Amino acid sequence: MNDPNGLVFVDGVYHLFFQTNPEGVEWGNMSWGHATSPDLLTWTEHDVALRFSEQEAVFSGSVVVDHGNTSGLGDGDAPPLVALYTSHYEVGSPRAGTQAQSLAWSTDGGMTWRRYPGNPVLCRQSADFRDPKVFGHPTGWVMVAVEANHRQVVLYRSDDLLAWEHLSTFGPLGSTEGVWECPDLFELPVDGGPQTAWVLVVSLGAGGPAGGSGTQYFVGDFDDRTFTPLPGDTGRWLDVGPDHYAAVSFDNTGDRRIMIGWASNWAYARRTPTPTWRSSMSLAREVSLRRSPGGRPVLHQDPVLPDDLLQHRLAVPAGVRSTLTLTTDEGRDPLVLTVDAGADRITLDRSRCGDVTFSPDFPTVVEAPLPDRDGAVDVLVVVDASVVEVYALDGALTLTAQVFPSAPLTTLGVDAA
Ligand code: FRU
Repeated sequence: MNDPNGLVFVDGVYHLFFQTNPEGVEWGNMSWGHATSPDLLTWTEHDVALRFSEQEAVFSGSVVVDHGNTSGLGDGDAPPLVALYTSHYEVGSPRAGTQAQSLAWSTDGGMTWRRYPGNPVLCRQSADFRDPKVFGHPTGWVMVAVEANHRQVVLYRSDDLLAWEHLSTFGPLGSTEGVWECPDLFELPVDGGPQTAWVLVVSLGAGGPAGGSGTQYFVGDFDDRTFTPLPGDTGRWLDVGPDHYAAVSFDNTGDRRIMIGWASNWAYARRTPTPTWRSSMSLAREVSLRRSPGGRPVLHQDPVLPDDLLQHRLAVPAGVRSTLTLTTDEGRDPLVLTVDAGADRITLDRSRCGDVTFSPDFPTVVEAPLPDRDGAVDVLVVVDASVVEVYALDGALTLTAQVFPSAPLTTLGVDAA
């Protein structure tokens, strides 16, 4: 798998669609896989929802619940679910060489999907126009997508999810080393409200904080047409680790805003040492905006957690440097996290943790500055088999990294200096 797609909450069920190859563990034959969960923790996989064809690969996109049946595609009972996805046209298609936005809909709660006969519904004659994320807004439906090579997010609106008109274009801004992919745009209360701000999220194929791909976000305002970042906001990393990409949020979760990212990195995603499967998602994370001590609204991420994962919480007092070492039962394959509350730095060293030889880009020592804070640094470490997630400062800083130890990382040592 790669990107999460079409995250949507319907009738008590979370749906996760995702980029997948139904015929192998290498990227290709791109289709939408499907899994559902009652709690964001336990997932059941279903049949492929949208399958590639000879002429069309099904790239990333989103799903909305069309409550008012604005599309007219409902069958009179429940509101239809409408997917907007990118058609990547293959050689042999009359549209070969372009990417355009297409529609599919479901009237059985997301289990089966029909492609709209008038596809694509939005075409700009571009080779790199993709990853539509749609949300409901008082002015109609709004779509954010990318012109990937131009490092731009393009905004559109629609009354019926079928006919789209251009609103505005954002970027380039912030990190532009890699192509821009998988945008999202949503509004959140600041410090619980009543004031709100808008968050624009965009992933980058290269130039990420730990090398390779990464995800940045901007905080600002959306005036029904245009997203304008706050003065001086040139983007921040959503996650400072190497393995958090294409993160987007669920539709239809009311006041909660929940994101999932792909826990891998295009620098080595195709080569990870897992012969029967490849890649997984991050934990689901509820996000909120809170002002830092410096006064800037910062995104905080709070993972949805089960009780039986190995997790560890600690508080590192001001001026202290604390080192956490995770190993196997036998003390092998150390993964070393250093939280330095004196030098204001956090580092994660996975260079000696199990198999690191499959790519020269993998055995990294990730280092990131600790943001503004008052007092001690609280740290939560979650180990979920091959994915380690670190949440510091109440989720104002997160760091996600894959590891491939020879046995589970069950043992934790902590040193403070
Ligand atoms: C991001 C991405 C998207 C595209 C999809 C194809 O990882 O490149 O831009 O839609 O993957 O699988």
